[in-house]
Amino acid sequence: MRKKIIAANWKMNMSASQAEFLLAALVPKISNTSAECLILPPFTSLYAVKKLLAGTGIALGAQNMHYMDNGPFTGEISPLMLKEAGVEYVLLGHSERRALGESGEMINLKVKSAVNHGIKPIICLGEPQEVRESGTELEFISNQLDEELGGICLCSEMLIAYEPIWATGTGCPADSADAQRCASFIRSYLAMKDSQCAQEIRILYGGSINSSNIASFLSQSDIDGALVGGASLNESFERIARYDEEF
Ligand code: 13P
Repeated sequence: MRKKIIAANWKMNMSASQAEFLLAALVPKISNTSAECLILPPFTSLYAVKKLLAGTGIALGAQNMHYMDNGPFTGEISPLMLKEAGVEYVLLGHSERRALGESGEMINLKVKSAVNHGIKPIICLGEPQEVRESGTELEFISNQLDEELGGICLCSEMLIAYEPIWATGTGCPADSADAQRCASFIRSYLAMKDSQCAQEIRILYGGSINSSNIASFLSQSDIDGALVGGASLNESFERIARYDEEF
């Protein structure tokens, strides 16, 4: 049975003091949900958020990392630094980072490094609008998986986030049945590598998730969680984290 996970990707929002302000109100409301909750703050807010999450059961993650442990990589953050900051999960290959030039090859190195350091990678993928319009999204997803997972043994601690670019930050979510079709395709791909792990790996959907549409995504058989951007930046995130309760 895969435990549902609701992840708040704050992107480049929430300074440490803003994070403290939001979490003071939010943590008591989301600390005993049926789904696992995960906060992904920017690097500079990790320590402040770690303190506020201590003992709450809410997990801490980072939005990126370098694959090397240390060295001449100005402006980068290493897996060892993330471990010391209490990070359990790391987002890798988000489309907003790919748009800045991050390659599939680099993401592959990062996934290997995260696994080696015992940090759970949330491996992101998803097609742009023009690919969707041409009807070749499954081929595109398969190519991204080839790049990201090439030479890597699957483990149940990995997560995959399907985030179609045309649905990210646009207010136009995918149709939940269509997201299920893509999630199911991803699981079949994983099963070709390792059938046992494919049943255990959690697959998330991300892209314009809000409190009104979350339940329809999480009712799909292959969607085990949500990666939430804009709607995770205020107290209404409680409604998303408690998607299975009456309000
Ligand atoms: P939005 O929820 O703002 O569409 O962002 C999705 C996302 O990119 C989460 O990683």
